[in-house]
Amino acid sequence: MAILVTGGTGYIGSHTVVELIAAGYNVVIADNFYNSSPEVLNRLKTITGKDIPFFKCDVCNKDEVEMLFNTFNEIDAVIHFAAYKAVGESVEKPLDYYENNIGGALCILQAMKRHNVKNFVFSSSATVYGDPEIVPCDENAPANGATNPYGWTKVMQEQILRDMCVADKSMNVAILRYFNPIGAHPSGLIGEDPNGIPNNLLPYIAQAAIGKYPSVRIFGTDYPTPDGTGVRDYIHVVDLALGHVAAVKKLFTNCGLVTYNLGTGKGYSVLEVVKAFEKACGKTLEKNILPRRAGDIAVNYANPAKAKAELGWSARYGIEDMCAHSWNWQSKNPNGYKE
Ligand code: WQD
Repeated sequence: MAILVTGGTGYIGSHTVVELIAAGYNVVIADNFYNSSPEVLNRLKTITGKDIPFFKCDVCNKDEVEMLFNTFNEIDAVIHFAAYKAVGESVEKPLDYYENNIGGALCILQAMKRHNVKNFVFSSSATVYGDPEIVPCDENAPANGATNPYGWTKVMQEQILRDMCVADKSMNVAILRYFNPIGAHPSGLIGEDPNGIPNNLLPYIAQAAIGKYPSVRIFGTDYPTPDGTGVRDYIHVVDLALGHVAAVKKLFTNCGLVTYNLGTGKGYSVLEVVKAFEKACGKTLEKNILPRRAGDIAVNYANPAKAKAELGWSARYGIEDMCAHSWNWQSKNPNGYKE
């Protein structure tokens, strides 16, 4: 028995591999290093003490995926992370996003069908809720509100999975809607290593704190929130990884299709996050107040009650640890996985 983790050398994938192994599962990693580094495999070995089977493969390549399932015939669940994830880039290159994200998922699902693998965990996103009318946002909120092609690939893949489960009652699928994953493994050996200028708040703050940027950017101070900056539900990547372990356990109870929010249930503003990071790194950071970023919403945070009730999972780390671990990773690896 083994769990296949596609995108297993990426940010969330690598942390999930660590927690799966800690929980006693055998893991197979598939990745093509499109947005990750082979160095992650060395770091995973240091953390877990295990040589984790790895297969270099593009999830959109049918022949490679077939070879993967032929090589590891003990796979009985798949956690599918491998996908493009940059919101701005998806607006520039929508066809690439639809082709890679939807094509990759279909290729994996077709291979699972051929090889009679019935258990699938899907990396979805709170982005499917668009601008939610009610917060905290629960799983019954309309989930068809994407505002960019990246988000639409998540909405569309969720629909593909629901249609597949109607047709095949033997499938078990967990759709996990992540809120805003941040932080890093407490060892500082693995963490987020974005290409180029980071889009997301935390990696940008972390890189400003090591001196790569003169200031942190604050996108908008006129939102209808207590301090005027956007509010999000930041979740420690290790808690998110543990959510995947809980979801895999749930699949093995023959649960059919299930959908869960993975968030903490608590919202923090941009300024509150910057303040928590300043405490973690012991420096005061320059703030550059800018206009709102196109497409951003004021507030979103999760109601995570369903995951707690049905998976027995809830987030344990608070914002202080998220920032401390993010700083630990960034200060130990100023250039990420690059030499
Ligand atoms: C958070 C807050 C910004 C950068 C996006 C995607 C989502 C998911 C996660 C995943 C907002 C503000 C940001 C900066 C800032 N994608 N901000 N200065 O927009 O909630 O979610 O990333 O793979 O699908 O939509 O996350 O981290 O970009 O922004 O002030 O330099 O920080 O305006 O309020 P977001 P984020």
